[in-house]
Amino acid sequence: MQLGFVLFFLFIFSLLPSQYGAEVYNITPSHPLAEGQTLVSPGQIFEMGFFSPNSSANKYLGLWHKNISPHKYVWVANRDNPLPATDTLATLRISSNGNLELMDGKQSSVWSANISNCSSAVLFDNGNFVVKDVMGADLWESFNNPSDTLLPSMLMGYNSGSGKRNFLTSWKRENDPSPGIFLIGLSTKFLAQAYIWINGSTPHWRSGPWDKSRFIGNKNLQWKLWNNPCDNYGACGPFGVCKASESPICKCLKGFIPKSNEEWSKRNWTGGCLRRTKLSCETNANESVSSKGKDGFLKLERLKVPDFHEYSGSVALAKSEDCKLLCLSNCSCLAYAHVNNIGCLIWSKDLIDMQQFPSDGEDLYVRLARSELGHLEVIAQGLESTSMIRNHRAGLREYIGKRDPSQLKIYDFDSILIATDNFSITNKLGQGGFGPVYKGMLPEGKEIVVKRLSSCSRQGVEEFKNEMLLISNLQHKNLVRMMGCCVKEDEKLLIYEFMPNKSLDSFLYDPTKRAVLNWATRFNIIQGIARRLIYHHHDSYVKVIHRDLKVSNILLDEKMNPKISDFGLARIVEETQSLENTQKVVGTCGYMSPEYAMGGIFSEKSDVYSFGVLVLEIISGKKNTNFCLYDQQLGFLAYTWKLWNEGKASDLVDEVLDDSYFSSEVMRCVHVGLLCVQDNAADRPTMVDVASILSSEKDGSLPKRPVFTIQNSVYHSGPYYENTNSSKNEASITMIEGR
Ligand SMILES: *[C@@H]1O[C@H](CO)[C@@H](O)[C@H](O)[C@H]1NC(C)=O
Ligand SMILES: *[C@@H]1O[C@H](CO)[C@@H](O)[C@H](O)[C@H]1NC(C)=O
Ligand SMILES: *[C@@H]1O[C@H](CO)[C@@H](O)[C@H](O)[C@H]1NC(C)=O
Ligand SMILES: *[C@@H]1O[C@H](CO)[C@@H](O)[C@H](O)[C@H]1NC(C)=O
Ligand SMILES: *[C@@H]1O[C@H](CO)[C@@H](O)[C@H](O)[C@H]1NC(C)=O
Ligand SMILES: *[C@@H]1O[C@H](CO)[C@@H](O)[C@H](O)[C@H]1NC(C)=O
Ligand SMILES: *[C@@H]1O[C@H](CO)[C@@H](O)[C@H](O)[C@H]1NC(C)=O
Ligand SMILES: *[C@@H]1O[C@H](CO)[C@@H](O)[C@H](O)[C@H]1NC(C)=O
Ligand SMILES: *[C@@H]1O[C@H](CO)[C@@H](O)[C@H](O)[C@H]1NC(C)=O
Ligand SMILES: *[C@@H]1O[C@H](CO)[C@@H](O)[C@H](O)[C@H]1NC(C)=O
Repeated sequence: MQLGFVLFFLFIFSLLPSQYGAEVYNITPSHPLAEGQTLVSPGQIFEMGFFSPNSSANKYLGLWHKNISPHKYVWVANRDNPLPATDTLATLRISSNGNLELMDGKQSSVWSANISNCSSAVLFDNGNFVVKDVMGADLWESFNNPSDTLLPSMLMGYNSGSGKRNFLTSWKRENDPSPGIFLIGLSTKFLAQAYIWINGSTPHWRSGPWDKSRFIGNKNLQWKLWNNPCDNYGACGPFGVCKASESPICKCLKGFIPKSNEEWSKRNWTGGCLRRTKLSCETNANESVSSKGKDGFLKLERLKVPDFHEYSGSVALAKSEDCKLLCLSNCSCLAYAHVNNIGCLIWSKDLIDMQQFPSDGEDLYVRLARSELGHLEVIAQGLESTSMIRNHRAGLREYIGKRDPSQLKIYDFDSILIATDNFSITNKLGQGGFGPVYKGMLPEGKEIVVKRLSSCSRQGVEEFKNEMLLISNLQHKNLVRMMGCCVKEDEKLLIYEFMPNKSLDSFLYDPTKRAVLNWATRFNIIQGIARRLIYHHHDSYVKVIHRDLKVSNILLDEKMNPKISDFGLARIVEETQSLENTQKVVGTCGYMSPEYAMGGIFSEKSDVYSFGVLVLEIISGKKNTNFCLYDQQLGFLAYTWKLWNEGKASDLVDEVLDDSYFSSEVMRCVHVGLLCVQDNAADRPTMVDVASILSSEKDGSLPKRPVFTIQNSVYHSGPYYENTNSSKNEASITMIEGR
């Protein structure tokens, strides 16, 4: 598309002799401007005369910078009524009735200023061509009748006195000054916006409202209007936001879905998006400010705010909070913004033509049903979204929509400082996968655990968000309850309930405490973990793979019920994807399935493998990891299989249990454990199968011998194993492991 809008800046021009023969300084009734003459401004800056653009067949009366070559025409009189180039007798004259007229060689008027009482016309150094009456008063000026160029000191806009609006109209083509399809001008609404229209009415570009010093939707007032496709008016349709740096450029606002998935996937975004969850105020007419509102606001930053703002003068100078309340009090209000120099703007029509800039722009608050927001969003906004969360957002969103995340509390950083004694070393419980873990006590006496994200760890940020999103949305009685979080600048904290009995390994591998774990307790723990995994793998809306199941991540509540912790490594898998390939293998040696440790492929069967290892460890009180790097001959798993196969599985049972166990239960557990650790993921049972076998509803098949021993693979296949020390070191990833 060809556009001819230009903004000129004044330069100091040197005085060069004109290339035209005759220069005149004014036009009077007795001295018309004729072919071969030019009207020149006193400082020799602008010049007016006849021209044929690049030797076209047409001739026009126009105005140009005298000293810019080739000429750049800033104003043209007879744009839609050209003279033939061959007409050498044309004149610009003041007629007997006092009108300013352009006459062709046959003495008929091709253009006029449509005035009377005109006595002279002069050209000023700012490029304004002015017609005066006998008293010297201005009757008409070219600045009020612009062509396609805005000159400094020329005012664009709306004359509330005369009701006249000025527009710039593009040339039709480069060499054709007749009016083109593009029109630029200001809206008449308060807090005017500049628009470019096509064909006089279809918006093509918009500046955003004028804040008395700049157009707020236009970065730095650089009038380079077509930087990117997002500058096309309404590029993403209603409720769509355009971000030029991303691909695809259009996204629906949070809480909105494409109106037509088909068009959207074809990158035709003009249809825009629809609200997914009705606003509470639409269904409940009684919602009021005092009821605190069931709807909330999503904050969008660095935005070219949408079109069709309404200026809320009454709270113009008030605080953002007032603007929010104003919006909340009227169900028609879909968004608000509190803008410096302006005050409160609200929107009640479809939000259209939003663009997100890398910098500048304004904050816009979009009304959403509370269930679309959640506390998470509030926090997540402080964090950059990761590709993982983006990719799985759709699944997750629906999931979050079904939950009430309001149990999640946002803690004040200062109160956490007090609770943890300023993160004192004596309160430190250990080092988690993404930072230190502290114990704390809230003023009301409740004990908490605080995970503190190391501020410099990039990986940590992702894991933080991962865990936060997961845990808060997957609350379950076998999962450590996240009570809330706290974000302040670089500090990102997760707050959990405190597990008084610490982790399973603090019992299992403690020579004195292990006896506390009688068989009934162990069996209960095994079943609890199985239930939890069934929920993750099969019942929950999004499939969650823990990836780092191990004894130290099983915490125990006051009744010794197991709770799984440390979801920093978990991955959400959409139903369609049962296998995921990851470049980074994380997990703990001894618990990783062969396909995962070696190839980075994980599925719920990777968790099944880890579960199998866990079960065998719980039965035996031995650590598979002890076999991990040192046992060259026979791994723990192969050893277990051998015993089971020889009918001596009872030799495996922890000696502290004596004979206080039900042999049949133990046998089922060993059987399950061995089925779970089979080399081939497809041979392993699902967690539902596991539960059936444990409850003796179902018999398991014969397990195959585990041939794979992790030390041989992991140890030698270094390149696959981009592990961190924290995962290798079993203890370091534990959430609560008091030392
Ligand atoms: C005029 O024509 C010349 C030569 O054909 C070309 O270089 C120049 O760009 C043209 N200028 C305009 C304003 O079209
Ligand atoms: C000229 O001015 C008169 C009165 O101001 C108006 O009625 C008429 O439409 C104008 N004609 C043109 C061609 O602008
Ligand atoms: C033109 O001047 C005459 C006499 O001075 C005056 O009566 C008339 O109103 C003027 N017309 C305009 C359009 O200003
Ligand atoms: C503008 O008008 C022309 C001619 O009527 C038409 O071909 C073109 O599609 C229109 N463009 C828009 C954006 O309306
Ligand atoms: C784009 O989608 C809109 C409806 O969303 C439809 O009316 C229009 O025809 C589509 N345009 C193209 C080029 O397919
Ligand atoms: C709305 O509020 C009014 C006054 O508080 C009450 O009388 C009315 O029953 C409420 N309506 C509904 C639908 O809750
Ligand atoms: C709510 O907002 C709409 C749109 O701004 C307005 O027309 C309407 O009068 C407002 N209603 C009330 C009760 O203020
Ligand atoms: C925590 O640190 C702040 C400021 O560093 C200090 O004022 C306060 O006394 C400290 N509190 C404790 C319990 O150490
Ligand atoms: C577990 O914790 C509860 C509460 O602190 C305590 O009463 C109980 O004795 C603990 N159980 C064991 C086995 O330590
Ligand atoms: C592991 O720890 C060692 C010693 O603390 C350190 O030199 C090494 O860089 C660490 N490796 C990774 C991957 O963090």
